[in-house]
Amino acid sequence: MTEVTGATQDFLDSSQYQESSILQYESIYGEDFVSPGGRELAFEMIAGMALAPASRVLDVGCGLGGSAFVMAADFKLRVDAIDLSRNMLALAERKLAANGLADRVNLQWGDCLELECTDRYDAIYSRDVFLHIADKLRLFTVLNAALKPGGRLLFTDYCCAPKPWNDEFSAYVRERGYSLHNTEEYAGLIEDAGFEQIDARDVTARFIDILQTELDRIGSLPLAQTQLDKLRDSWRQKLDRARAGPQRWGLFSAVKAI
Ligand SMILES: C[S@@+](CC[C@H](N)C(=O)[O-])C[C@H]1O[C@@H](n2cnc3c(N)ncnc32)[C@H](O)[C@@H]1O
Repeated sequence: MTEVTGATQDFLDSSQYQESSILQYESIYGEDFVSPGGRELAFEMIAGMALAPASRVLDVGCGLGGSAFVMAADFKLRVDAIDLSRNMLALAERKLAANGLADRVNLQWGDCLELECTDRYDAIYSRDVFLHIADKLRLFTVLNAALKPGGRLLFTDYCCAPKPWNDEFSAYVRERGYSLHNTEEYAGLIEDAGFEQIDARDVTARFIDILQTELDRIGSLPLAQTQLDKLRDSWRQKLDRARAGPQRWGLFSAVKAI
């Protein structure tokens, strides 16, 4: 039997991250972003890492590059940014060529599970990527190895309430191929991979506020009515799932032992 570690490049590029879908997501999340909170939340989280200029950061699952660009332009960090979707990376490369940050942002195609570096990064940052990865223990072990001693891991991710889930949420997770955990399970996996000072927070209330803002934004997008209706339905369903309980959002921070 084939080992299931996470979504493949083919699956990502032919389903959730077809170019047209990426561009539609970007119009909702904000320029260069494909994750809740867009640039504003990215800026807040990056500022919270309090890294000195020229620190080395890895952005795992960088998408269109938004966070990596903020790190380089606003915080003068040196950034490696990796993503498994060819569609996503092609768009990110075009943006990087246009924004003059190529000397400080190194974009790479690849699967973060295959990272082989050791003690390289002062911080690893990731936004809503790990939901695509089934083998979380391997993921956190690889990321732990890539950090310098004392380096910080900071990420957000879609999470879930403990099972049983309702049929609608189970179908949503199955169709997307997501692998979700509750915040306590996540904290355990991070600890098992050797991290310390683990802070695992359920931030679903913030997720709901962000979803509401995004839903309002959808109304002003220059799209055909059928597309607008489809997007509105999708965002309303996400809001319902978060308000009713099964869909959660987590914010995680942990440190590699010195
Ligand atoms: C929801 S998007 C978020 C993109 C970006 N982090 C942002 O905030 O805009 C998730 C991203 O994770 C990437 N991804 C999924 N599995 C991955 C893996 N194993 N290695 C690297 N990137 C991966 C996807 O291709 C996609 O670009």
